[in-house]
Amino acid sequence: MVLQFSEKKQAEIQEIIKRYPEGKHKSALIPVLHLAQEEFGGWLDVPVMDYVAEVLKITPIEVYEVATFYSMYNMKPVGKYLFEVCQTGPCMLRGSDQIIDYIKNKLGIKVGETTPDGMFTLKTVECLGACGYAPVMQLGKTYREHLTPEKVDAIIEQCRMISFNN
Ligand code: FES
Repeated sequence: MVLQFSEKKQAEIQEIIKRYPEGKHKSALIPVLHLAQEEFGGWLDVPVMDYVAEVLKITPIEVYEVATFYSMYNMKPVGKYLFEVCQTGPCMLRGSDQIIDYIKNKLGIKVGETTPDGMFTLKTVECLGACGYAPVMQLGKTYREHLTPEKVDAIIEQCRMISFNN
């Protein structure tokens, strides 16, 4: 399959590239990887990263280095709902370990796994920059804060409802 960004995404990429001097397309890599992840199924496989390299006129290894470094890029398929639970010190002191264990037990998966129905993936990440609201997880473009088992139950239920109604 030949990969191609949609026209809308291509226009966004051109806007991003224009922010940087000629010959410095690599500077656009991080936002373009976000767009690629959105466009091509929520994760970055090798053909997608190679395509990004081609679009930005850089080498594939330059893309791999960045994509594999940051936890916000998924290197394997993820579920419809990706729970990215912060496990750094302040969140840990506020019980993120228990929250992670609770999610693991509730969904029957380990960190890095996806439920068999393809609905939920659990990931642990480093500080989300919201330590004052610990324990925190990112879900899509939102943060879920002051997590408790009850809040986790409600979030899972809400995701299932949204999915059921769509
Ligand atoms: Fe969890 Fe900063 S330590 S948001």
